[in-house]
Amino acid sequence: MAIIFDFERKVFRLDTPQSSYAMYISESGFLIHLYYGAKIPDTDLIYLAKRPNTVSFSALTADQKLTLDSALLEYPTNGISDMRSSALSIRGFSGNSATDIRYRSHRIYSGKPKIPGLPATYAENENDADTLEIVMYDELWDAEITLFYTAFNTLDAITRSVRVKNNGTKAFDIERVHSSAVDFYDDNFEMLHLEGRWGKERTPVKRRLMYGLQGIQSKRGSSSHNHNPFVALCRDGWTEESGEVYGFSLVYSGNFSAEVEVDSLNSTRVLMGINPTDFGWHLDAGESFCTPETVMVYSNEGLGKMSRTYHRLYRNNLCRGEWKTKKRPIIVNNWEATYFGFDDDKLVAIAKEASELGIEMLVMDDGWFGKRNTDNCSLGDWYVNQDKIRGGLKQLVDRVNALGIKFGIWFEPEMISPDSDLFREHPDWCLHVNGRECSIARSQYVLDMSRKDVRDNIFEQMSKILSNANIEYVKWDFNRNLTEVGSEQLPPERQKEVGHRYVLGVYELLERLVTEFPKLLLEGCSGGGGRFDPGMLYYSPQIWTSDDTDAIERLEIQNGTSIVYPPSTMSAHVSAIPNHQTGRNTSFKTRGDVAMAGAFGYELDLTKLSEEERELVRKQVRTYHEFYDTIQNGEYYRLINPTEDKSNPTCSAAWESVSGDKRDVIVTYVVMRTSVSISRYVRLRGLDPDLTYTNTESGESYSGALLMNAGINLSWNHKDGDSTVIHFKAL
Ligand code: GLA
Repeated sequence: MAIIFDFERKVFRLDTPQSSYAMYISESGFLIHLYYGAKIPDTDLIYLAKRPNTVSFSALTADQKLTLDSALLEYPTNGISDMRSSALSIRGFSGNSATDIRYRSHRIYSGKPKIPGLPATYAENENDADTLEIVMYDELWDAEITLFYTAFNTLDAITRSVRVKNNGTKAFDIERVHSSAVDFYDDNFEMLHLEGRWGKERTPVKRRLMYGLQGIQSKRGSSSHNHNPFVALCRDGWTEESGEVYGFSLVYSGNFSAEVEVDSLNSTRVLMGINPTDFGWHLDAGESFCTPETVMVYSNEGLGKMSRTYHRLYRNNLCRGEWKTKKRPIIVNNWEATYFGFDDDKLVAIAKEASELGIEMLVMDDGWFGKRNTDNCSLGDWYVNQDKIRGGLKQLVDRVNALGIKFGIWFEPEMISPDSDLFREHPDWCLHVNGRECSIARSQYVLDMSRKDVRDNIFEQMSKILSNANIEYVKWDFNRNLTEVGSEQLPPERQKEVGHRYVLGVYELLERLVTEFPKLLLEGCSGGGGRFDPGMLYYSPQIWTSDDTDAIERLEIQNGTSIVYPPSTMSAHVSAIPNHQTGRNTSFKTRGDVAMAGAFGYELDLTKLSEEERELVRKQVRTYHEFYDTIQNGEYYRLINPTEDKSNPTCSAAWESVSGDKRDVIVTYVVMRTSVSISRYVRLRGLDPDLTYTNTESGESYSGALLMNAGINLSWNHKDGDSTVIHFKAL
């Protein structure tokens, strides 16, 4: 059992292979945090909790035994004597928000429970994880707060979530309820997070912790392009391969906040959960509320190992269904090939080329439904535009299938165009606040997904399309933020629930889709990677990484994405040049080598390729199959970080995939901006020092020890945008 309770000391300790996490129950029933870090054998840890008791103005608890203000608290609450940001605030029947929770009971068991209505990591077998539930209680509000902790047995991951139940007879309001809180004794950390914008998602940024509050949030209704629901605290001196790194990743696709607070005793608090801004939840007697889950990962081998732990966990214990392990098809998507200007014959022509080149699936993107020829109409009218797809969808899909090519389709299920039959029929179905104008983005409104009737309608429309023809893939898009977040169906005291109810509604619809069509491959999308988060990965094992398909820009985007998300989840396509977003020209080879780092495909008009390019596609398809297992299921190492200038004088990027048995190694090196007389050696990682690795192209052999300690020599002159792939095999 990875979780123990020392009865005598009242200490809980959770262990993963290389980390431990501990807390204890104080005499007066407060839950005090003790330790999170490298694995320890002890439970005699209470000495760690001794904190200055004489901090001026800090109140003592009524029994005079504890100063909450300086204590490290396991799940801090609002309005009693801890003055830092709190994880929980409940406004009770008297209208006050002072919330005081004390230990009642606990339970330790094998396995991991589900969170009702929410995506979460899971344990495939009972033995893969152990769970601790601690029940805390607020006597005045009659609120039962259950803290859930699951420790994975083979990965350094601990998950957290919280359930609030109204056990009384009077309603209360949850004002904030974070999924996790961790207090550290010190502040010797940098905070790393992933910021961005449309077309430039998930750029890692780091900053030294400072006194006071720092953090990131989304108020956009989705996790957003701008901030990913992830922060890491990296202990001073950390590198990609060394030092302590603590990751906090939220399995949620809506408004989130990660608050990091350093107090005047230099301790650090990390809160992660649903953004309290614009959030509230009214709990009537007997009702419960469950938070999404935070996944905490500890690494004592730098950021790289933290990433690899997330990769394994998200690949094996978050992604689900048929396509979790099944080989993903090579896709050609017609968006950048045709935009809205296509018809059935054009798609069949692309599919014909695809079949000759070894590409396996055609995805018909936006523009096939209603009367949609530009982006200003028809969202919500999910029936085929017979002017474009003459003879109907089934006939088109059959023609494509007859060429040996699978068929996929694009939907934007959560949206409604003012110019649509659906809107004309149901003008009240979009999110709105009565009496206020609705903001408009990309000529569209957002459907009120908190409503069951709305979801039923969209599900029926989608289901009809998907049952009518052999459609094997859906790209689920989401192309604007939420504004005027109000719902007709909820009373005033529940309007603050709409943001979260929206997300629950989306999850419910996704669940229905994957249940009804279990063989469907879902690809998430939101103007590229605006909702690239663990919540969506529970339903769609791959997500369109960015609308920026420029290979050089993608180096940074994919590098940043890899900090949390495995290669198999990052959809990446070879597109045409000059690139449609940046105007940059990059060789076909480099575009292929970069896209090969993710779920591979094409995003260009195959009918316009030169003979030379067709040959390159064939070669890339062969390489994809050869490298598939190592890239998609192996371990990923960032070798040269494209965003870091000082340590990267040649302005390049390099990464490495190593197969599970360490015998197959693929290194990709791309020069972004060249310079003269380049000296560049790159040390490989994760090899077996005792094996001999042979370069499959040159035949040269080196020991794993040499490749890891001296590295490979890349000191020759490359041109801007050149890429090199080196494949080693150990016999
Ligand atoms: C979004 C997606 C694109 C494409 C368009 C279609 O921007 O990210 O890939 O599907 O929508 O409108």
